[in-house]
Amino acid sequence: MQISCRDGEFHLSSGGMSYIFALDGRGAPRHIHFGAALSPDSSYRHLLRLVERPFSIGSMESAGWECPTIGRGDFRIPALEIEAADGSGVLDLLYAGHRVIEGKPPIPGLPATYAETEDEALTLELCLRDAVSGLELYINYSIFEGTSLLVRSSRVCNRGRGALSLNSAMSAVLELPDPDYELGTLSGAWARERHFVRRRLAPGLQGISSRRGASGHQHNPFLLLSRPGATETEGECIGVSLVYSGCFTAEVEVHSHGTCRARIGIDPADFRWQLGPGQEFATPEAVLVYSARGLGELSETYNSFYRSNLALGYWRDRHRPVLFNSWEAAYFDFTENDLVGMAEGAAALGAELFVLDDGWFGLRDDDSSSLGDWACNLSKLPGGLAGLARALGGLGLGFGLWVEPEMVSQKSQLFEAHPDWVIGVPGRPRSEGRNQLVLDLSRPEVVDHLYGVFHGILSSASISYLKWDMNRHISEAYSAALPPGRQGEFFHRYMLGLYALLGRLVEAFPELLIESCSGGGGRFDPGLLPFASQAWTSDDSDAIERLSIQAGTSLVYPLSSMGAHVSAVPNHQLGRSASLDTRGAVAFFGVLGYELDPRKLSEEDRRGVAAQIAFYKEHRQLFQFGRFLRLRSTWEGDGNEAAWMVVSEDRREAVVASFRILGRPNPASLRLGLRGLDPGLLYRVSPLPAEGSLSSAALIAGAGSPDVVQRENAGLRRGDELEVIGLLLSGEGAFDPPAGDFSSRLFLLEAVFGH
Ligand code: DGJ
Repeated sequence: MQISCRDGEFHLSSGGMSYIFALDGRGAPRHIHFGAALSPDSSYRHLLRLVERPFSIGSMESAGWECPTIGRGDFRIPALEIEAADGSGVLDLLYAGHRVIEGKPPIPGLPATYAETEDEALTLELCLRDAVSGLELYINYSIFEGTSLLVRSSRVCNRGRGALSLNSAMSAVLELPDPDYELGTLSGAWARERHFVRRRLAPGLQGISSRRGASGHQHNPFLLLSRPGATETEGECIGVSLVYSGCFTAEVEVHSHGTCRARIGIDPADFRWQLGPGQEFATPEAVLVYSARGLGELSETYNSFYRSNLALGYWRDRHRPVLFNSWEAAYFDFTENDLVGMAEGAAALGAELFVLDDGWFGLRDDDSSSLGDWACNLSKLPGGLAGLARALGGLGLGFGLWVEPEMVSQKSQLFEAHPDWVIGVPGRPRSEGRNQLVLDLSRPEVVDHLYGVFHGILSSASISYLKWDMNRHISEAYSAALPPGRQGEFFHRYMLGLYALLGRLVEAFPELLIESCSGGGGRFDPGLLPFASQAWTSDDSDAIERLSIQAGTSLVYPLSSMGAHVSAVPNHQLGRSASLDTRGAVAFFGVLGYELDPRKLSEEDRRGVAAQIAFYKEHRQLFQFGRFLRLRSTWEGDGNEAAWMVVSEDRREAVVASFRILGRPNPASLRLGLRGLDPGLLYRVSPLPAEGSLSSAALIAGAGSPDVVQRENAGLRRGDELEVIGLLLSGEGAFDPPAGDFSSRLFLLEAVFGH
């Protein structure tokens, strides 16, 4: 890791990555390179080609900028737009100084990645100044030892005499010399979040955004630029991820001269920020990752960086409890006896935490009322939260509680008392979503109120976990507390309020485990990770759908952040019935939970669930904190196969799962090459489960023979064979047991000592 600054040329390098820029003749920083590492001892200034072309304004469009602005002839998407007191928007940002800082400074009020020790990171702070307006821009670039990434954010300071309006302030721009990339995004909808979608870059502007007041189910604040044909193991890839949970934009512009500019930051569409003299504005930060070796390496960089340098606090490295959640088991319809009955069943199966979902407060028997009135419904829970917590404690279970603090129902005492605390334009109707309105978290008194309420709840009973939900997006975005000229600040002020609230609660209850949620995975983003170490990945708990959702999510986010539950069949979102083995195998790759009523399980399934939980606990370090590898993904080939693998840090232990969505008669021979093993080690391969549904399938087939896949793979295999030749998945002819649709295989690999 090194930052060198010589003769106006800046070179940041760490891991296999270099980021280089240099000052031009006027002192404007111009981008030269982000990508594979280059020697820090050479100069690359000669690569700055400042040429004039027909119909261009000087050389403004001929090379990249560290902070492109508008109005002087660079017509591409800018990083910073202002409106000065005279109505003009022109800026001319020139070098005014720099310093190199050991470690990485925090961003006040915003979630950010961090270095645990000062020698883990280096930060270059570059100061640029516009002489006419007095605007100063500080760009922070941080690099981390041994890691191929760069973290970037900006601080805009008004050092002039007049007020400025900030009309857009990106967290990062990235200039690339050619457009030969595919643009990848994690896109979808409710119940099908973060499907990986790729398309070729084309001339002009393309990208994604959210104007919803939350990152949203539709698009994740992340862009991938990968060379065409890049695979899990080959091809250059660049990731651009935003540490933020609100409205965002992530765009790429392919210019007519063949260059390419990406930008990411707060969505400018609904953003205006008044900066009075002496005031500052800090952007969220963006994390730019470079991989020379495909998607797999890019994901591993994000996964481990977000797990260790963004997730924070007590739960960061701790094993997460196996939970049972009441939502799909009972929805709003339960009594204390039901809950205790379910909890008894869950405890007997090995669960560690029981989560009481929606419906426990006010008069909430459906989704039409009571949000805001966070008093326990004593007709459902006569012993109150404390009584239930005690009962669960007696069973050896932690108590988890669902809350939705940002919302209010019109049918609630809170709404009657404080209608002005609700977001909306005075004189216009407020649109409801899921029968609810949104509290104005841009107002400090609303944040204080919520802090008081939830501090009280958390102090009133032994609650070790909160599921923090958000079940609608923000319409009629307007705060009664902001003057008309400052309404453009609303969305970001809301986010600052939310982060402040979460930060205060986590500080007061440092051992509280928070799982963020927004109608499933509608706010699964880096911004919440420092507060909520895990997130509910999707309301779609169907195992087959989860193959795409969890794999897409894993492009950026670590397994320790992904809530993954086994639910009842037929599945409530799709009506599909996958076997318990398959449902378990998918949910193992994340933070395992169950979303069903254990009292309704058959005896066979009860044994199966108990075995799953025992297996998961035994290998929990691997499943939650191991190195995750996508061996096959539903976005490849005909989409019928998926295979995942987790490997321990010392490469001595691994679990491999393979999934086949639709069964194939007389299937082709299929082998699965593994990755991440030690080629020289000898592994004991144990196909799982040793008995159970697979052996009964063999009996139904009438073959009477042992499962050929189990038989062929079981035994001692060297790492090199497992990687080069792989495990046999199918294709051994008539004796393959017909596994039906939605089948899975699970293998445990353990290195044999002494080899
Ligand atoms: C949406 C969540 O994603 C569900 O898991 C559940 O908590 C419901 N909200 C409760 O209203």
